[in-house]
Amino acid sequence: MTNPSSLVTREATVPCRVNLIGEWIDFNGGAVLPMALAPSATVQLTANGTALDRIRSTSFAMSRTFAIDAPAEDHWSDYVRGALQYARRRNWIESGQDVSVDSTIPVGAGLSSSAAIIVATLKAASLGLADVDGEALAFAAKEIENTFIGVPCGIMDQMAVALGKPGTVLALDTRDCSYALLNLPETWSVVVIHSGVRRALSDGRYRVRRDQCLEAAASVGVDFLCDASLPLIEALDAPLVNRARHAISEAQRSTDAIAALRMGDRSKFGRLMNESHVSLRDDMEVSTPEIDQLVCDAVGLGADGARITGAGFGGCIVALVEPERMETWWNALKLRHPSIERIV
Ligand code: GLA
Repeated sequence: MTNPSSLVTREATVPCRVNLIGEWIDFNGGAVLPMALAPSATVQLTANGTALDRIRSTSFAMSRTFAIDAPAEDHWSDYVRGALQYARRRNWIESGQDVSVDSTIPVGAGLSSSAAIIVATLKAASLGLADVDGEALAFAAKEIENTFIGVPCGIMDQMAVALGKPGTVLALDTRDCSYALLNLPETWSVVVIHSGVRRALSDGRYRVRRDQCLEAAASVGVDFLCDASLPLIEALDAPLVNRARHAISEAQRSTDAIAALRMGDRSKFGRLMNESHVSLRDDMEVSTPEIDQLVCDAVGLGADGARITGAGFGGCIVALVEPERMETWWNALKLRHPSIERIV
């Protein structure tokens, strides 16, 4: 017989994030500065008393049934199923679930749609459990990404979507996960623009870059690449020297950007974003010619700063613009790049 409590539907909504600065350093011991955005993922769970998970989504136009312990199969529903399997192992939920997923987050855009779906599923599954807070959800979600999904990501995205409220910025030290939530000054407008180039983290390029960073750190004898100094990495060969130069310089930029945000120094923050883009393009090698052109035009047309955001290889750029200039700036940029789409 069905347990009456299992008929209760549990629901959670989690935002996506854009990273303002501090890219490719959340596993290298650096500080990062992601901001939660309004597009979100909502997950509803209802226990169905069977050994099957039935997952449907109008946003992803799919409805499928899986054995509750089935392995990942390189499909977006893995994010839900990894979270359900995790929640069942901890007795947060029993049996199979009827799951409904509704997401307004663009996929393959570098805005953490996957972290949002995993965290939303875990959050719905753990509703009412006093000892499961946002940080616990973030750590669980990272473990699921690293093991069930197989992407060796850092902790930035999960912390950003689990702790962030749309519009607030998370200054996160990825080494000990201490953080502060900061507000954007009123005279700062953050714009997130989809380039139209889509990418997936599971295609292996993320792992290659991350392994190069770990190898560079081991070669110069530091635990975290951000701790190395420029003289120390000089003897490394390419591409390790490039990855190391990015990690060291990006960690400094990120620290400086957090200070600039606290001081309300928009033009300094913008300059740091521009430098970050150059480093991601030349040293991390995660940009594309289309995105380089978009960033160049965004700045040329009057943004204080712009850069590729997230892991890169496509996806979105983030720009910082003075609110009064916004409309003229956006119209001019759209005229030059008709296929771009403004997310916020
Ligand atoms: C992805 C990963 C993060 C981080 C960024 C790059 O979003 O999930 O952990 O490494 O790339 O900054």
